[in-house]
Amino acid sequence: MFKRISALVLVGVTTLAMAGCSGSGGSGGSSDGKIVMGFAQVGAESGWRTANTKSVQESAKSAGVELKFSDAQQKQENQIKAIRSYIQQKVDVIAFSPVVESGWDTVLNEARNAKIPVILTDRAVDSQDKSLYKTFLGSDFVEEGKKAGQWLVDQYKDGTDQVNIVQLEGTTGSAPANDRKEGFEQVVSADPRFKVIASQTGDFTRAKGKEVMEAFLKANPKIDVLYAHNDDMALGAIEAIEGAGKVPGKDIKIISVDAVHDGMQALADGKISFIVECSPLLGPQLMDLAKKVVKGEQVPDRVVTEETTFTQEQAKDALPGRKY
Ligand code: AHR
Repeated sequence: MFKRISALVLVGVTTLAMAGCSGSGGSGGSSDGKIVMGFAQVGAESGWRTANTKSVQESAKSAGVELKFSDAQQKQENQIKAIRSYIQQKVDVIAFSPVVESGWDTVLNEARNAKIPVILTDRAVDSQDKSLYKTFLGSDFVEEGKKAGQWLVDQYKDGTDQVNIVQLEGTTGSAPANDRKEGFEQVVSADPRFKVIASQTGDFTRAKGKEVMEAFLKANPKIDVLYAHNDDMALGAIEAIEGAGKVPGKDIKIISVDAVHDGMQALADGKISFIVECSPLLGPQLMDLAKKVVKGEQVPDRVVTEETTFTQEQAKDALPGRKY
């Protein structure tokens, strides 16, 4: 029996050495027959991420998977160190949500050489060699951006005036920031009335969302729409908008992505105008996929999360039953 709890939470890679003491059983599983998963999380930057971590930890527990968990604090080098530590510990499977898309080939090759299967969860990598990982479980972020853009186009279908948009981008170089921007642009660029007058990263955090929105408001007297790549940045921006004496949702329409509880509350309260859902509840599917890849069974290359969108009225109905 393992002495340690199955969902071992480690903050920062400096504590990863501790995880090495729990003694995984390598490619055959732990000493008590459990599958051992090394999970390299991005960080704790948002409500979405907190819900995702909880989903992974709880699902590991109920699936009987021993989880070695690390928090990279939004730094790629920390994730790479965590993955190398999992390779050294000979875990059965590695899962991770890559903080950025590029720069993974070397460490993924090391995992492959050690015959440890890798599952991408939530975010993609841009490696050309798809055999470096077994499957990718997560949302279609381009589609999310398109849904955000389509809502906006529908709102302004009768007008003729220019629509000034500011964009709060997610972490620079991350798949959701790249793809949500791209999907949105694909839709709104078809109509010359839509102008993205400012776009900057808010790193998916509330504090940075507020800070950048304050700068946008100072530099741009007429902002019609804010497109935020996640709810946390939108919530920070709401504080900035209110601080500038404007009414969020009225003076400035706000579109965001995630549909976490606080975002949905702001939507129901009329402060956010529309939210595109991005589900963090990836844990159960991740554990199923992990069991299959460890057994050497075939899994689909790509598993796309099912998601919806919410208007203000829909948020009021959905809020009581939301799980995150
Ligand atoms: O990768 C998913 C994104 O990461 C979420 O939309 C955002 O809130 C999180 O930080």
